[in-house]
Amino acid sequence: MPLPSHFLDELRARLPVSQVVGRVVRLIRGSRGEYKGLCPFHNEKTPSFTVNDDKGFFHCFGCGAHGDAIGFLMQHDGLDFMTAVERLAGEAGLPVPRPDPAERERQQRQATLVEVLEAAARAFEAALDGPDGRAARAYLDGRGVAPATRQRFRLGYAPGDGRGLLDRLTADGADPAMLIEAGLLRPGQDGRPPYPMFRDRLIFPVTDARDRVVGFGARLLAGEGPKYLNSADGPLFHKGRLLYNLPAARTAARAGQPVLLVEGYMDVIALADAGYAAAVAPLGTAVTEDQLDLLWRLDPGPVLCFDGDAAGQRAAWRAADRALARLKPDQTLKFAFLPAGEDPDSLVRGSGAAALEPVLAAAQPLAEILWQREAAARRLDDPGARAGLQAALDRLAASIAHPELSRFYRGEFRRRIGDAFFARRDGRRGTPGGTTAAAPKPQSPQGAAGDRRQRIGRLLVGLMIRQPVLFEAHGEDFATLDPIDGEADRLRAAVADLLDREPGLDSAALCRHLDDNGWRAARLRLLAADKAVEAAAGVPEDPVRAGLLWRELAQEWLVLRLRADLEAARRAFVDDPSEPNQTRFLALQAQLAAAGSLSETGSEAWD
Ligand code: UTP
Ligand code: MN
Repeated sequence: MPLPSHFLDELRARLPVSQVVGRVVRLIRGSRGEYKGLCPFHNEKTPSFTVNDDKGFFHCFGCGAHGDAIGFLMQHDGLDFMTAVERLAGEAGLPVPRPDPAERERQQRQATLVEVLEAAARAFEAALDGPDGRAARAYLDGRGVAPATRQRFRLGYAPGDGRGLLDRLTADGADPAMLIEAGLLRPGQDGRPPYPMFRDRLIFPVTDARDRVVGFGARLLAGEGPKYLNSADGPLFHKGRLLYNLPAARTAARAGQPVLLVEGYMDVIALADAGYAAAVAPLGTAVTEDQLDLLWRLDPGPVLCFDGDAAGQRAAWRAADRALARLKPDQTLKFAFLPAGEDPDSLVRGSGAAALEPVLAAAQPLAEILWQREAAARRLDDPGARAGLQAALDRLAASIAHPELSRFYRGEFRRRIGDAFFARRDGRRGTPGGTTAAAPKPQSPQGAAGDRRQRIGRLLVGLMIRQPVLFEAHGEDFATLDPIDGEADRLRAAVADLLDREPGLDSAALCRHLDDNGWRAARLRLLAADKAVEAAAGVPEDPVRAGLLWRELAQEWLVLRLRADLEAARRAFVDDPSEPNQTRFLALQAQLAAAGSLSETGSEAWD
């Protein structure tokens, strides 16, 4: 009795060959995700034994031994097929299906289900090319999808009545029950006949890892209804275990392209056009653990891309939590956030492929994302809050199943807590001279502190772009801030100028004006880079919180400047203890005290 293929697929997916072989053979990761080692089936000094998890087999170029994980146990441990399967299934926590006479029939049915889905995909493609597809073609043209791209992704069109297509499939031998199973027909309610699932929609065929069409996504073109419909889960289509564009992404990833997870079908397609061919997307749900495993098989360090709004931030956090359970050494994740109001599609279509580079360059590691979430939710200057923060981060580290990795994360979080509390204290009464042996030294006022100052300056500009309403109360400060850096200062002048001329502009309108005046690239760079700091401070969606954040940042900006000035004045006075130098030093010290941040060591140095 053959075992069902879905069971064997699942078993192979859960236990990569490298894991099974790796217990007996010391494997070294080589290029293209292939492992190498000394062959256990013949005697050798240099490794000619390879394991490829993507292809799911091992192969020895020396003695020709070859097989999958099951075959390895059979050949190496001398087990028969069923015993090898049972041992692996036990390890993977999968129950072995009992022999079942209905099983053979089910497998046969599946073969035909694949055929029905393929036939449907072809019919949708043909409809897009035919007279019915005119409006859908125009829609794709309007979104910048070229005919070649359309064909590469096998996009299609489901006509308005939908019956013609189904009649054709039925005439080719598919019965309605199978069309329901294929997700193309929906059972009618109250004795009514089944009706077509997709009508007047653009069709995105979804393939499995072997590039067989197993379901469809469908976008509304006009009228009312949910924007996207997806096939319902069935024998072949499991939303949570598939990724859109997986087979093509695998090829591109092997060729060295970065693996990107994006939200939607159109994002994947636009990125492919922009030269990012290794982009994939989940199918209308949040990313699942199984999908993370698929991603890690493509690339040990994929980048997850999220919208730059509060919903995107929440989605990122959810993905980060999910990742912990499945994390293993050498597997990482990075999180990239799109500028507000953009998705990957709109960004690369609107500003070109290069606009994605700063977004990806600013991608943050998993530990950073979790740290930011927990730290942003608490005060950092209160021992009780600190204990709470530590407990929350310990819990997160503990949810990493891999014991050693769990300890590393715990240590990393502890280190960050230490640094943050130190930085806070340092922020209250810093050590401008940096002479205390125990304290980490700021390299120079222009070094670490200078970087921080530049970051805050850029944040202030970003905040004004996101909340132009701040201009009413803080416009003058904004326009007269000390220099930040060339680009930020030029952008700031442009923002101030626009808001001066047209008070009451909202963020979207302001961005449009900026873009029209050639500021788009600078604006995107600024908004992408300040994402990390902004997340730590909490995204200010309402103007009152934005105002508070503004005051906090402006205050820190002032203090950092005064401290740098005070340090310069101190040196000047040490070099030349003249009266003007003394006066200047004292004046600055007073200003800094008024700004609520008198530097104790500064005054000690003076005494
Ligand atoms: P978005 O609403 O972000 O759409 O949905 P999008 O990809 O930007 O689509 P366009 O650009 O307007 O065409 C992202 C993904 O969420 C799923 C789909 O998989 C979509 O690609 N989705 C969205 C649904 O499943 N149902 C919906 O009603 C909306
Ligand atoms: Mn979109």
